[in-house]
Amino acid sequence: MSSPLLGQATPARAPATIHPRAVSLPDRRVTPISGRSWLNQLGWFINETSMGKTGLWGPAPPQEDDLAALRASGTGAHERSIVTPSLGSISMTGADLYRLECQGCHRTDGRGVPPEINSMINPVRSTSPELVRKHMEEVGAPMDAKSVRELAKQSHAALVQRISHGGYHMPGFLDLNETEIQALVAYVEQLAGVPGAERRQLQFNEPTMRVGEHLVKATCHICHDSVGPKPSAAQMMDGEVPPLSTLVASKGLDEFVMKVTRGAPATMGVLQLQYRGRMPVFYYIRPEEATAAYLYLYTYPPESVTSPAEGSTAAAKAKITAGARDVHR
Ligand code: HEC
Ligand code: HEC
Repeated sequence: MSSPLLGQATPARAPATIHPRAVSLPDRRVTPISGRSWLNQLGWFINETSMGKTGLWGPAPPQEDDLAALRASGTGAHERSIVTPSLGSISMTGADLYRLECQGCHRTDGRGVPPEINSMINPVRSTSPELVRKHMEEVGAPMDAKSVRELAKQSHAALVQRISHGGYHMPGFLDLNETEIQALVAYVEQLAGVPGAERRQLQFNEPTMRVGEHLVKATCHICHDSVGPKPSAAQMMDGEVPPLSTLVASKGLDEFVMKVTRGAPATMGVLQLQYRGRMPVFYYIRPEEATAAYLYLYTYPPESVTSPAEGSTAAAKAKITAGARDVHR
C-alpha cells in the first residue's frame, strides 16, 4: 500500500532541553566491505547521478602565491596533524547515523534530489498516527482511530523495510541492528516534524571499527569498488575511481582524513599534475569518523568475494527491486 501524501513538513524544532536517551548496543561482528561500488552495480557513472554528492568539491591545487605564503607562515606542518587515532568508542545518536548512512544521498534535510532521489519526508510523516489523522481530515476523508493506527503502522513497517533492504536505486542496510534502526527512525521522524519525535532520540557508544564500517559501507562504497588494481594517474584522469583496497596504502592517515573532510587535489593525467579532482568534500563527516574509516579499512581489508551475508542481500534486493519497480514507475 502506498503512503498518503502529507503536504509540507514543518521544520524540525531543535530539542533544546531534551537529551537523547542512552542505550547500549548488542555486540555485532564487524565485517569487511566487499563487492563492487553501488554505482557500478547500477551501471552508472559518477557524473550521471546525484548519489554521494555533497554539493562541495575539493580545493583547486594551490597556486604558487599560496605556497609561498604557506612557507612563509610556517603553518604547513601544523595544518597536517589534524587527528590522533583512537581505538575506543565514539558516542553516536540517530542524527550521527543519519550523517554516515543517509546524508550522502538524501542531503541534510531528508529531501534528497528528486526525481532521482525521492524525499523521505512524506513517507516518514505517514508513520505518525497524529499526522495521518490530521491529513485525512484536511483532505475531507476522515478515518476512524483504528484505521489511522493501522495505516501508520504499515508505513512504519515500510520505512524499516526500506532502510534494511533498500529500494529500486537505493542500497539496503542489512548491517544495521534493531537499536540503530530505531535511532535512525526516531531521527528522521524529528527531521520530518513528527510530533514528539525529539523525545525518542537515542544515544549509544559505537566501537570505532563499527563507525568506520558504517561510513565506508554506506557512503564511500557508493563510488569506490572494494578491491581492484590501483589506477594510474592517466586512468584516474579518464575517470577511474581508486578501489577502497588501495586507499590505505596510497594515503597516510592525515592525508586520508583531509581528503574526506576538507578535500585535497588529485594527481592525475600522464603529466601527473594536480587537479581539483572529482570526489565531493564530506564536510559533515568529523575527523574522528574519517579516522575510523581508515582504521576499519586497515583492520578489515576489503574483499572481492561477496560474503554469504551480502549474497543474501543481493537475493533479498532482487525481490524488493521487483516490487519497488512497480511503485516507482
Ligand atoms: C546511495 C544513495 C542512497 C542512500 C545512501 C540512501 N538512500 Fe534512500 N533513497 C535513494 C533513492 C535513489 C530513492 C528513490 C527510490 C529508489 O530508487 O529506491 C530513495 C528513497 C528513500 C525513501 C522512500 C521515499 C519514497 O518515496 O517512498 C526513504 C524513506 C529513504 N530513501 C530513506 C533512507 C534512509 C533512512 C537512508 C539511510 C539509512 C537512505 N535512504 C539512504 C537513495 C539512497
Ligand atoms: C561521489 C563519489 C565518491 C564518494 C561517495 C567517495 N569518493 Fe573517494 N574518490 C572519488 C573519486 C572520483 C576519486 C578520484 C579523484 C579524486 O581524487 O577526486 C576519489 C579519491 C579518493 C581518495 C584518494 C585516493 C588516491 O589514491 O588518490 C581517497 C583517500 C578517497 N577517495 C576516500 C574516500 C572515502 C573514505 C570516502 C567515504 C567517506 C569516499 N572517498 C567517498 C569519488 C568518491
